[in-house]
Amino acid sequence: MKLLTHILCLCLALALAQSEEAHASAVLDRCQGLEMDAVTVSEEGVPYFFKGDHLFKGFHGGAELSNESFAELDDHHHLGHVDAAFRMHYEDSPSDHDHMFFFLDNKVFSYYKHKLEDGYPKDISEVFPGIPDHLDAAVECPKPECDEDSVIFFKGDDIYHYNVKTKAVDEKEFTTMPNCTSAFRFMEHYYCFHGHMFSKFDPKTGEVHGKYPKEARDYFMRCSKFSEDSDHVERERCSRVHLDAITSDSAGNMYAFRGHHFLQKDEGSDVLKADTIESAFKELHSEVDAVFSYEDHLYMIKDDDLFVYKVGEPHTHLDGYPKPVKEELGLEGPIDAAFVCDDHFAYIIKGLTLYEVDMKASPRTARIEHQLSLFKKIDAAMCRLDGIKIIVGNHFYHFMSKMLLIAGRALPQQQRVSQGLFGCDH
Ligand SMILES: *[C@@H]1O[C@H](CO)[C@@H](O)[C@H](O)[C@H]1NC(C)=O
Ligand SMILES: *[C@@H]1O[C@H](CO)[C@@H](O)[C@H](O)[C@H]1NC(C)=O
Repeated sequence: MKLLTHILCLCLALALAQSEEAHASAVLDRCQGLEMDAVTVSEEGVPYFFKGDHLFKGFHGGAELSNESFAELDDHHHLGHVDAAFRMHYEDSPSDHDHMFFFLDNKVFSYYKHKLEDGYPKDISEVFPGIPDHLDAAVECPKPECDEDSVIFFKGDDIYHYNVKTKAVDEKEFTTMPNCTSAFRFMEHYYCFHGHMFSKFDPKTGEVHGKYPKEARDYFMRCSKFSEDSDHVERERCSRVHLDAITSDSAGNMYAFRGHHFLQKDEGSDVLKADTIESAFKELHSEVDAVFSYEDHLYMIKDDDLFVYKVGEPHTHLDGYPKPVKEELGLEGPIDAAFVCDDHFAYIIKGLTLYEVDMKASPRTARIEHQLSLFKKIDAAMCRLDGIKIIVGNHFYHFMSKMLLIAGRALPQQQRVSQGLFGCDH
């Protein structure tokens, strides 16, 4: 009896703990369609989404308390939220360049290198004369995207263009745009969020072109399934979320992996197909780390395991796999990226170290080839006849050869994944 009671108590405690956890994650799950209070990029260019007293960093993952990153936002306990936020980004005004500004009721906070600047918080009317309190949204707008280096402030359906240099305020009406609850400049584009939808707008005129509003979770969050009728191809083509892995097989067909989905583009075709990873690579399920193609097989790495699929319709998973990456390739997972060019060497990127693995050797070993010091991090890589593409966040860099990747002293021109690889037109 005593044991039974003990077990009962344990179960109760577990159930309680679980329901508490479920409650917390239900409140904080950005895939539930949250309306964000404020959105900005950090000094490092990472998107920050604010909701209540929480902060989501990047395009996926859980929330943290915003006071862990910005302690002083909490000194006004009754606030518990951020009205608006933006990152000043004007190289012409070095004293403010890259400062992050947060707006709470009638106060503005300025952070630089994650420290609150002396004298802040200040009244909004003191720092941005002519701009009202209790804002809905704010976004930076540097030249030439706006005529002058400006900040655009939103309150209800009122829009204020604030000239950073002269402090002149120009009130505008953006008649075609909904009232924004947060606004965001990302990759030189301007987005107005309202509820869990967003519209892309012209910062000078407020005009919205194209099919908007769209679902924010399709483009700015990495959520697996939330709406049955969302268009996977359109979403994946234009998503700003970084790829997990990409490869091109010997026939020139390209496969790109992101979260629960993958995109496929066959050689000689402009048609992009999207499907769930689950449907074509069931054993892998989702969230692959790196993929390379070798002799009609896709080698797919997830955590410490290597999955091998024979390319076909459908792809077939080889018996005996997954096997440990360590056993098969001679180095420990996790792996960041991998590629094979036109020979029998696989190049594996772990951190910024490039390893060479002779696929014909037995057992296979990983030889350190080089440090890729041109980069801070690498998400995915692919080699085709025309060279190597290294993918970092939403961008990629094209190297004509492995030699240039290793010995190059400067990064080649940065290109956008959505446009350059998938033909997204916006
Ligand atoms: C942050 O806020 C939480 C909840 O309001 C509080 O418990 C915690 O002490 C705060 N932390 C800091 C560093 O202020
Ligand atoms: C937009 O804001 C104005 C107040 O400035 C308000 O009157 C109007 O109802 C709002 N529109 C919507 C759709 O919420």
